[in-house]
Amino acid sequence: MASRRTPSPATGRVLVFDSGIGGLTIRDALAASAPGLVIDYAADTAFFPYGEKADAALAARVPEVAEALVAEAKPDVLVIACNTASTLALSETRSRLAIPVIGTVPAIKPAASLTKTGTIGLLATPGTLARAYTSKLIADFAAHCQVIRHGSVDLVHLAERRAAGERLPASEVAAAQAPLFHAPGGEQIDTVVLACTHFPLLRTELTAAAPHQVSYIDSGAAIARQTLKRLEAAPARRIGVDPPAAWVTSPVHPEAVGRVFRRYGYETVRALDVPARAQGV
Ligand code: DGL
Repeated sequence: MASRRTPSPATGRVLVFDSGIGGLTIRDALAASAPGLVIDYAADTAFFPYGEKADAALAARVPEVAEALVAEAKPDVLVIACNTASTLALSETRSRLAIPVIGTVPAIKPAASLTKTGTIGLLATPGTLARAYTSKLIADFAAHCQVIRHGSVDLVHLAERRAAGERLPASEVAAAQAPLFHAPGGEQIDTVVLACTHFPLLRTELTAAAPHQVSYIDSGAAIARQTLKRLEAAPARRIGVDPPAAWVTSPVHPEAVGRVFRRYGYETVRALDVPARAQGV
């Protein structure tokens, strides 16, 4: 969700990184909160989807790809616009890079203060749900709530198809979300955390498919605020003359991906050379 505050005059170059097109929801929140930013985008398409990868493989890959991307794009700030990657590899990525790195993690804290029934739904990838980081967020901020979890990679694929312009059958979205509400206590859920950056792309469909009215919340506005704070504190900022650029990690990407990127203003999509040590996992 975009910030409703007055746009900031902040400038600088930000690189937003996700496994696929989900991070474009964070990119939008950033662009809405500071129209003067130059926002580059990168999708690790060769390793998509992150949500069902083994922890060790993903923990090894994310910092490598992030390092290669930062060397290429030279941003002032890197935003890991992916809950699955951030809950696993944020500190290792930070330790490798000399620039600020902002992670995206489930919006448990705001959900805990919003819920009236005390029952929160948590929609994420299976990877994010399995993380100790996520359990700690729940223990720290929502110990007084019932948190009903549902992990879905189907929703990630549905979001990619939706972004590529496909009209999704309502029954497919409903089936992918249904286990959340069918779990014991599911009828009490009044707030659902969209803890995967792909899911806000399906907000309309998810809302239509929910068996009763709920509020869906995501981390977009909070990530935008944190990014601006870090940029404002940075000693020097790059805007440069280069237009915003987009990278993918597969040597060839489907035409649909190119179309999505063009819609967001990225005229050309470059293939990033991923270091060999990130590939052998
Ligand atoms: N967009 C990512 C997230 O926020 C994950 C999607 C995937 O499984 O690749 O978790």
